[in-house]
Amino acid sequence: MKIGIIGSGKVGSKLGELWVKAGHQVMFSFSRNPERLKALAEQIGSNAQHGTPAEAVQFGEVILLAPNFSLAPEAISQAGSLAGKIVIDTTNPYRLDENNELVRMVDENASAAEEILKLLPAARLVKAFSSFQPSALQRLTERLPEQRLAVAIASDDEEAKAIVSKLAQDSGGQPFDLGSLHNARLMEIPGPFSFGDNLTLESALALRQKVLSC
Ligand SMILES: NC(=O)c1ccc[n+]([C@@H]2O[C@H](COP(=O)([O-])OP(=O)(O)OC[C@H]3O[C@@H](n4cnc5c(N)ncnc54)[C@H](OP(=O)(O)O)[C@@H]3O)[C@@H](O)[C@H]2O)c1
Repeated sequence: MKIGIIGSGKVGSKLGELWVKAGHQVMFSFSRNPERLKALAEQIGSNAQHGTPAEAVQFGEVILLAPNFSLAPEAISQAGSLAGKIVIDTTNPYRLDENNELVRMVDENASAAEEILKLLPAARLVKAFSSFQPSALQRLTERLPEQRLAVAIASDDEEAKAIVSKLAQDSGGQPFDLGSLHNARLMEIPGPFSFGDNLTLESALALRQKVLSC
């Protein structure tokens, strides 16, 4: 599958590397320093390229949207229309204030994903990969199935969710369904699934039953 990556920092670069290892093609984009993206793509190999956000949208069957939340409007304006595209939102809705303190940027009861969707008319938005540090993911071959990291997936588009679930498996994780896009807040900081660096599928399913039955 071809995956356009908008936001190629810790999350975007790690997922891009893992997806190339799983046989996908990626294009990295969105940086103040395109030379860094060129070096990143070269280091990963021939199935990795770099380009502008608009080129990543043209390239990708699926788009990974992984900028800092406060820069999402800028990244999306550089990307152009994402109508009809499956877009994976990884953002956590925080910025640092002048004292280096985290400031939440959306209402406590809303999700960043719902705010992002307002910027992406007709995109097929799926929330995933926001609940753990990207370094917690490892290649499939490096972990037994029961030890693999649980990857929460939330969306109102079931077909898009299934495609992203496959990409979660290909990144070395074990996908699990967290329900609607509104439930994305459960995997965004400080939701119950948002500190999932060691969360296995078995624990995630037990936690899901507890949280969703409340
Ligand atoms: N890190 C985590 O543990 C983690 C876990 C889950 C979810 N998330 C969420 O996922 C998203 C990405 O996180 P991250 O840790 O990958 O962030 P990051 O490492 O800071 O990556 C963001 C990228 O955006 C680029 N960028 C920054 N300012 C820019 C500008 N003005 N114009 C163009 N590009 C710019 C930077 O590239 P250059 O430096 O090359 O300009 C940077 O590599 C965030 O919303 C975060 O909340 C993070």
